[in-house]
Amino acid sequence: MSQKVLVTGANGKTGRAVIAALAKKGASVRAFVRKVEQGDALKALGAAEIALGDMNAVETIAPALKGCDAIVHIGPPMHPDEKAMTEHFIKAAQAIQLPRFIYYSVMHPLRREVPHHARKLDTEEMLIESGQPYTIINPTRYMQHLEMIWKDVVANGVHGMPFNTHVKFNIVDLLDLAEVTAKVTAEDGHLWASYELAGPEGLSQDDMAAIISEVLKKPVTARQVPLDEMEAKARAGGATDQRIDTMRKMNTHYDHGGFRGNANILRWVLGREPTRFKEYVTRLAKRDGLLA
Ligand SMILES: NC(=O)c1ccc[n+]([C@@H]2O[C@H](COP(=O)([O-])OP(=O)(O)OC[C@H]3O[C@@H](n4cnc5c(N)ncnc54)[C@H](OP(=O)(O)O)[C@@H]3O)[C@@H](O)[C@H]2O)c1
Repeated sequence: MSQKVLVTGANGKTGRAVIAALAKKGASVRAFVRKVEQGDALKALGAAEIALGDMNAVETIAPALKGCDAIVHIGPPMHPDEKAMTEHFIKAAQAIQLPRFIYYSVMHPLRREVPHHARKLDTEEMLIESGQPYTIINPTRYMQHLEMIWKDVVANGVHGMPFNTHVKFNIVDLLDLAEVTAKVTAEDGHLWASYELAGPEGLSQDDMAAIISEVLKKPVTARQVPLDEMEAKARAGGATDQRIDTMRKMNTHYDHGGFRGNANILRWVLGREPTRFKEYVTRLAKRDGLLA
C-alpha cells in the first residue's frame, strides 16, 4: 500500500516540486491548500487528493492529517506565525502518533540576525523537544531565484540581486531538494536527523553572471541592486512591512556573510552528483527555447 503524505504550502514553489517528487516515488499525496481552485493543477502534478484548510485555522488541521503516514510541512516564507502554525501541525501529528514529521526549515537557522531564520530555529527546537519523530530539511538559497530576474537577464544582460557581487553562495537546485525531501519522507532511515542541503559550488553574482553568459553566449554582468530599489519593487508587489523588514535584514546579512555550505549530505541522500549551476541555467534556457 502506498504511503499517504500531507504536504502543506502545497501550491507554493517548494510544495509543487515536492508533490511531483513524492508522486514519482509512488506516494499518495494529499495537498493542503487554502483555495479549492488550486486543486486541479496540483492533481495534474501528481497529488491524489486535496485538503482545504489554513495553517492558522487549527480546526482544519486534524481532519487534513487523518489517515496520513507522514507530513511534509512547508511554512510560508518569512511568515511571522511560522512557530504557531507549525505547533498546530505537531499537536495534530502527536494526537494520531504520526510516524514521520518532515519540517522544511532553512540552512543556518541559528543566524538569528535574520528574523525568519530565528523563527525557524525556535520552531526546530519546539519540534525536537516535542518528542514527535522528525526529519528537518535545512536548504540554502535556491538556484530558482534566477527565475525572478530571468527576463531582465535575457533581455538586458544584467544579473541584479540586492547584495554585493563578490560574496559567495552555495545555491541549490529546488528539484534536488524536492527529490531529497521525497526520499526522506518515503524511505526508512532518516528519522531524528537534520540535513544541511547546499549546492556543490560557492558562487558569487559575478560567477553566476559569467556562467549565464557562457550558456547564453552573450555578455551578462552582475549588479548590486540597492536595498531601497528592492523595497520599492517589493512594495509594488504587495509585500507587508514585516516582510520588507525581513528582506532588508536577510539581504544585509547576505551582503557580508553570503550563504556558504557543503554538498556532502545532499550528494549522499541523492546518491548522485547534485545539479551544478551551469546545468540548471542550461535547463532554463532550453525550457524557454533559447538553446536547442
Ligand atoms: N526560496 C529559498 O531560497 C528558500 C531557501 C530555504 C528555505 N526556504 C523555505 O521554503 C519554504 C517555502 O517557500 P516557497 O518559496 O516555496 O513559498 P511560496 O512559493 O511563497 O509558497 C507558500 C505557500 O504557502 C501557502 N500559504 C501561505 N499562508 C498560508 C496559510 N495561512 N495556510 C495555508 N497555506 C498558506 C501559500 O498559499 P496561496 O497559494 O494560497 O498563497 C503558498 O502556496 C519557506 O518556509 C522558506 O523559508 C526557501
